[in-house]
Amino acid sequence: MNSLVVTGGVPLDGTVQVLGAKNAVLKHMVAALLAPGTHRITNVPRILDVEIMGKVLEHVGATCAFDGDSIEIDVPIDPNPEAPLELVRQMRASILVLGALLARCGEARVALPGGDDFGSRPIDMHLDGLRDMGATFELSHGVLVGSAPDGLRGADIYLEFPSVGATENLLLAGVLAHGVTNIGNAAREPEIADLAAYLNQMGAKVEGAGTSTITVRGVSGLTAADHRTVPDRLEAGTYALAGAITGGRVRVEHCRPEHLRMELQKMAAAGCQVEVGESWLEVTGPDRPVPVDFATLPYPGFHTDMHPQMVAFLSVAEGTSIMTENIYAARFRYIGELSRMGADITADGQHVVVRGVPTLSGAEVDGCDIRAGAALVLAGLRARGSTRVTEAHHIARGYSGFVPKLQSLGAQIDIDA
Ligand code: UD1
Repeated sequence: MNSLVVTGGVPLDGTVQVLGAKNAVLKHMVAALLAPGTHRITNVPRILDVEIMGKVLEHVGATCAFDGDSIEIDVPIDPNPEAPLELVRQMRASILVLGALLARCGEARVALPGGDDFGSRPIDMHLDGLRDMGATFELSHGVLVGSAPDGLRGADIYLEFPSVGATENLLLAGVLAHGVTNIGNAAREPEIADLAAYLNQMGAKVEGAGTSTITVRGVSGLTAADHRTVPDRLEAGTYALAGAITGGRVRVEHCRPEHLRMELQKMAAAGCQVEVGESWLEVTGPDRPVPVDFATLPYPGFHTDMHPQMVAFLSVAEGTSIMTENIYAARFRYIGELSRMGADITADGQHVVVRGVPTLSGAEVDGCDIRAGAALVLAGLRARGSTRVTEAHHIARGYSGFVPKLQSLGAQIDIDA
């Protein structure tokens, strides 16, 4: 999809169901490489990033067969320990094959990652931890060549920052290492707990995932397993805010509201009526939000991947909100685009001042990454007239059925190729 055209002004009303989390399923696909045989992962969204990861796996020698909302992954006994540039540059999560391939094959050749344009996104913590486990690395023509010919060994690692990717890479590396790996100051995201659950289903011995101390007792081999992916909290939160920004009501099913506590708390503080059950949530938006301040933080803090959608919502608040972005150095390109729609927002360092305006007006805007694209669509749902969100292929990287789901809620949105 090249562009999305949205006509604003209709309060959304209805129910949508979310699928499994993109940020979990991509890691499950990599985890499958640790055990030869046939794995079945269910509750999988059909999104571009999953397809790209499927290509990475195929390059490694696995086969991926999609069947509705599930993937069957057949992993060979001797994988080819390599991830090529043309795939890695499309998706940063490919770097996670590093830990898995080093653990499984004793070597890995992975092109250095690209991904979203959020400022510099180094992988020093991934590499330092893997070095502590006995791996060595050299960079050759843009390709990171990792080696651990005698296998990885357990280590005590304390992360400088609870990086999601570093925690996952070290977890994947640790399950087949000799001895015990302790990961301190680990990221606590629900997707990491879900990855550990899948690894344990394969026969791994992981404890503490979902807390800041993870202990991994290495085992000599794993067996293929089946796993159902945890629901996508970002997809759920995005539809909740899509309803809220229009002053409408959206019920999201098949989700886990406890994974969105901070985001729902801030929506309530901004004047939304929020109701939750075990696997559903319902958010009704106010005419205009009450301003709220919030700061992005590692889980269980406010998710950085929900910040652009929340800023879009607050752009029409009755007053001024301040948002502080603590995860990425630069994630503000979408602000210029929102300003083109009449929003009054300024960024200063990591702080963003959102002065609420009564109305937004439709314009042509650039959806420069997954969540920016979603945020601009949300703004378009509220704006007067028509909004064209270009570069909408980014949205397809993270949301399956984005347009039909919004249409089912009453949104006037169409794909314009
Ligand atoms: C994952 C998510 C991404 C989300 C992010 C934070 C996936 C596929 N992506 O990304 O959507 O926005 O978590 O919740 O799951 N950092 C370093 N050195 C490192 C590693 C990270 O400095 O070795 C920095 C990064 O540049 C960034 C911050 O730490 O500023 C957080 O990164 P991290 O938690 O690792 O995010 P990702 O795993 O890349």
